Amino acid sequence: MVACVTIGQLVLKEGAPVTSLRSRVIGLGSFLPPRVVTNDDLAQIMDTSDEWIVQRTGIKERRWVEGVTSTSDLAVEASRRALDSAGLTPEDLDMIFLATISPDHFFPGSGVFLQTKLGLAGIPAIDVRQQCTGFIYALSMADQYIRTGSARKILVVGAEVHSKGLDKSTNGRDITVLFGDGAGAVVLEAMEVNNPQLDSHLLSTHLYTDGAHAEDLWVPAVSTAYDEQIVDQRMLDRGDQYPKMNGRQVFVHAVKRMPEAVEIALEHNGYQIDDVDLFVFHQANLRINEAVAHRLGAPEEKVFNTIEKYANTTAATIPIGLDEAVKAGRLQPGMLVALAAFGGGFTWGSALLRW
Ligand code: ACO
Repeated sequence: MVACVTIGQLVLKEGAPVTSLRSRVIGLGSFLPPRVVTNDDLAQIMDTSDEWIVQRTGIKERRWVEGVTSTSDLAVEASRRALDSAGLTPEDLDMIFLATISPDHFFPGSGVFLQTKLGLAGIPAIDVRQQCTGFIYALSMADQYIRTGSARKILVVGAEVHSKGLDKSTNGRDITVLFGDGAGAVVLEAMEVNNPQLDSHLLSTHLYTDGAHAEDLWVPAVSTAYDEQIVDQRMLDRGDQYPKMNGRQVFVHAVKRMPEAVEIALEHNGYQIDDVDLFVFHQANLRINEAVAHRLGAPEEKVFNTIEKYANTTAATIPIGLDEAVKAGRLQPGMLVALAAFGGGFTWGSALLRW
């Protein structure tokens, strides 16, 4: 008799064997808030210019929310679109993963707000906090539940509202110009893979972390690492609530780690770089992605970028990129797709999918 652990409506079978079940993307959606903020708009409020931003990053504009809109508000819109495209309702889901570093609140995680906005209760809703690599981590974790037969349909979301956490004065210009708000979601379904070369499925994920670089890209407060309060006036006076970045370190590591992660994924699955039909990288900076493509020997026409329009939406860049690539006709059934991300932590990783 198989012992079971019940968590909400999800039943985990103890010692369940790894099956031939694999994850397939059956739904995809994204949501960008309507308010467009151009580089020229930013130049009105801080000492920067369209020329500086485009030359260093490739970014021309980004979306920023207005009013009370939160991360889970963006997440629920993207989730509904993903569910619609899969022909499912929220009640069909077994689990939710939400990757974000800009949560609605310090706790509980934003996944619970997303769950209730979808009208659900009971199923596990799990937050993933792996920064720009969050979506790939969430995809990987969801895939493990599917491979063990523990869940059949999982919603995986990346969503961020960065605009409310940025220093919009000239002091914050190095970071503030880089970030945008947005959300993207996929619905994964369990399927038996009969022909690994042809069947649509997630082939593999590879995840990495190097915490020695935690302070090269981080938000120091609110924090339990300081003396007494998680937030106090001294922290606010120092601007600890705003992101800090060692841009050079990020650049150097991102252009090394993302190609490595893609190469490991290809080697693991017996493919070559030329076999990949489309690369969807995290959108940190167009110059990083150009360098990653160059190192991999990936031709420009096989790399899909959205950074020009949406800037860096951290955990949301990859599902937004997938959705936009489908809408643009660049991602079609049967294609081999390589995903890679690098971000705070440092964390990085890759995923390979037969679409
Ligand atoms: N507008 C105008 N001037 C600016 C701005 C701005 N928005 N930001 C910084 N500057 C100024 C600086 O103050 C500095 O002036 P100074 O020489 O008088 O001191 C000058 O521009 C150069 O600053 P650097 O930080 O050296 O700028 P650099 O040329 O290195 O480019 C950049 C900055 C684009 C961020 C670069 O470090 C980079 O590409 N880093 C990679 C990290 C990245 O893109 N991160 C994205 C988010 S993280 C992620 O998703 C993984």
